[in-house]
Amino acid sequence: MDKKIIAGNWKMNGNMDAVALMADALKNIDLSHVTIVLCLPMPFVGASAILSVETGVQDCSAHESGAYTGEVSARMISEIGAKYVIIGHSERRQYHNETNLVIAEKAKQALKSGLIPIICVGETMEEKQAGETNTVIEKQIRECVPGKGAIIAYEPRWAIGAGMTPSNEEIKREHGFIAEILESMGLGGTPILYGASVKGGNAAEIMSIPNVDGVLVGGASLKAEDFLPIIQAV
Ligand code: 13P
Repeated sequence: MDKKIIAGNWKMNGNMDAVALMADALKNIDLSHVTIVLCLPMPFVGASAILSVETGVQDCSAHESGAYTGEVSARMISEIGAKYVIIGHSERRQYHNETNLVIAEKAKQALKSGLIPIICVGETMEEKQAGETNTVIEKQIRECVPGKGAIIAYEPRWAIGAGMTPSNEEIKREHGFIAEILESMGLGGTPILYGASVKGGNAAEIMSIPNVDGVLVGGASLKAEDFLPIIQAV
């Protein structure tokens, strides 16, 4: 991978003023070494015209079209100019009961519409303590990733928003393991991002770990003062 990917997940935060402020802060960034993706709340994606970086959203429907009140299709997201969509984030798995099966359908819709799905995988603290991390991750990847063109984000669920990360050794091991599974599925070269408690202070170190092709950033992507140091870490 030549360019690192830095993706921000705003979750359900921010407003139009915050998008304008971020657009201003990012307008002079040199994008020759880095791909920056801002995954905004759906209503703000229309503002992507003012952003010099790539935009994405945080979910899409598993259906192509039809009577699904409240849903937004991958095709519609692509039409408004977004290129990326986060799929199967742990908060969607936890609060919306999304299963691997549903996540795979969403990823298929995204790929079919020309969007790049960022498919999230990761274990809970209970699963980690039970020694089930690799089993959980392998099942998620085999069941959720429908083919070429996706990005994987390894987000250990216990570290999200927690201010703590796995050790560099653990990140190295899990990213290596994910790369092996993808290789065995004929999907070698699929970018693998690390996400959970990434900050300006740890981004450079995390991105220097083998098989870490970039980061997916939550809290620290909301304000330029926190996000720019992560970009500068590349
Ligand atoms: P934090 O960076 O706030 O831990 O969130 C990570 C995340 O969930 C990104 O999708």
